[in-house]
Amino acid sequence: MSDETKHNKLTTASGRIYVENENSKTVGPRGPILLEDYILHEKMAHFNRERIPERVVHAKGSGAFGTFTVTHDITQYTKAKIFNKVGKKTEMFARFSTVGGEKGSADTERDPRGFSLKFYTEDGNWDLVGNNTPVFFVKDAKKFGDFIHTQKRDPFTNMKSPTMMWDFWSLNPESLHQVLILMSDRGTPDGYRHMNGYGSHTFSLINSKNEKTFVKFHFKTAQGIKNFTDAEASAMKAKDMDYAQRDLLESIENGDCPKWNLRIQLMTEEQSRKVEFNPFDLTKVWPHSLFPLIDVGVMELNRNPDNYFQDVEQAAFAPAHVVDGIGYSPDKMLQGRLLSYPDAHRHRLGGNYEQIPVNRCPYAVNNYQRDGQMRIDGNGGRKPNYFPNSFDNIEIDESYREPSEQLESTIADWYDRNSKVGDNDHYSQPRALFRDVMSEEEQTNTINNTIGAMSGISGPMREVIVNRQLCHWFRMDNEFGSRVAEGLGVDVNAMMESMNVIHD
Ligand code: HEM
Repeated sequence: MSDETKHNKLTTASGRIYVENENSKTVGPRGPILLEDYILHEKMAHFNRERIPERVVHAKGSGAFGTFTVTHDITQYTKAKIFNKVGKKTEMFARFSTVGGEKGSADTERDPRGFSLKFYTEDGNWDLVGNNTPVFFVKDAKKFGDFIHTQKRDPFTNMKSPTMMWDFWSLNPESLHQVLILMSDRGTPDGYRHMNGYGSHTFSLINSKNEKTFVKFHFKTAQGIKNFTDAEASAMKAKDMDYAQRDLLESIENGDCPKWNLRIQLMTEEQSRKVEFNPFDLTKVWPHSLFPLIDVGVMELNRNPDNYFQDVEQAAFAPAHVVDGIGYSPDKMLQGRLLSYPDAHRHRLGGNYEQIPVNRCPYAVNNYQRDGQMRIDGNGGRKPNYFPNSFDNIEIDESYREPSEQLESTIADWYDRNSKVGDNDHYSQPRALFRDVMSEEEQTNTINNTIGAMSGISGPMREVIVNRQLCHWFRMDNEFGSRVAEGLGVDVNAMMESMNVIHD
């Protein structure tokens, strides 16, 4: 279209220039509206369709564009193009979020924070959809929906329910590690710039010789960790519901661009068979003493999206989106998530969601997918829509073939996720975190936050739930258990007796 035909006059969606944007066409100044005022219909109809389903989790979030730069060579472990030379820069997009609240909820709720990244690499978009914590509450994807229900609203009261939360956690000791982190001040980060991000799951790196190394991704904040205390976070809820959004947006607008340093932990396949814990269990970390952090690069966020809905609300991140040189692992949570996210995106954004600019691969996309609602990329034009064919030039490049995998077993079954040695220890890692990593002040805050959170347990099962959870805290650390019990006014001796009665 030539520039002469462009103008800035008010138009309908189809480009008709019109004048009356405030008064409807009526029969006489006070009479009924005429059906023919279709501009009124168009305005109302489009307004009615403005909302799309909010994300079923992580609904409240903030996003920004940025750049990832490689600072250290890891090409011996991976052939992924994003890491192929020191100094290499890759455009990217990040979205941070809370988990349990709705799109209008407060940014400073006690909750894990989502840490989603999309790297626009030459070999396709690589998404890393992690949290600000290295572990998670459950270790099998089948349990995710049940867990999330306890974080959302009670079906009867339509209110958040500490009773549901602690009932679930106390019945699922595998959640203890993540619950401890959630109860610490890391559960209330001071905005999004002052927290780390973790890929959380074990992934794999594949090098040019097709050798595999397992990997964990860590994005360490260059701004330093900063958290709110429980009281500060609660006060901020009343003062500024959008605290984290404002903080991220304004700092980037002011040219104060936040950075994170990417570091990785590596584990060979042989080591993965020998370590005492299950390295594919998302409730466990890989101890840094055994698997030290290795520097890789730096991510900087430097551009705010011009339109929140277009780029942040419509962003779609999927753990399934890996690229050549990066692979999955047998982590049961990761395996479930591979399926879940694209399914959620098709529901939330439609079948052609990969064409939305923030989700679109800016490099080549060549395949035989056609049609569907809102197809706007040319739809393959005159090219064939079937494979194989004698007409187009789309080629299969065998150098991208993924290496075959040696699996551990040939017997399919519903294995108990906690039955094996190394899978059933829910206490050692949280104990080490509490005793060896937290400062005295952090320990005290974590205990007080736990007392505050558990005080919300109510109803006829209160005592059972409190006592069951206290048993887990005691098994983790005696002092933690005693101080929480004392804070809740629980007589520990009587409790032990009553637990014995229950077990009898
Ligand atoms: C099997 C377990 C899980 C399932 C089934 C699941 C499912 C989902 C779904 C359906 C969404 C909404 C996606 C959308 O509408 O765009 C979502 C969002 C998200 N999930 Fe999960 N999730 C699981 C576990 C996890 C874990 C373990 C993490 C982090 C380590 C995580 C991090 C996120 C993040 C960061 C988002 C927000 C993505 C964004 O910014 O758009 N989820 N999850």
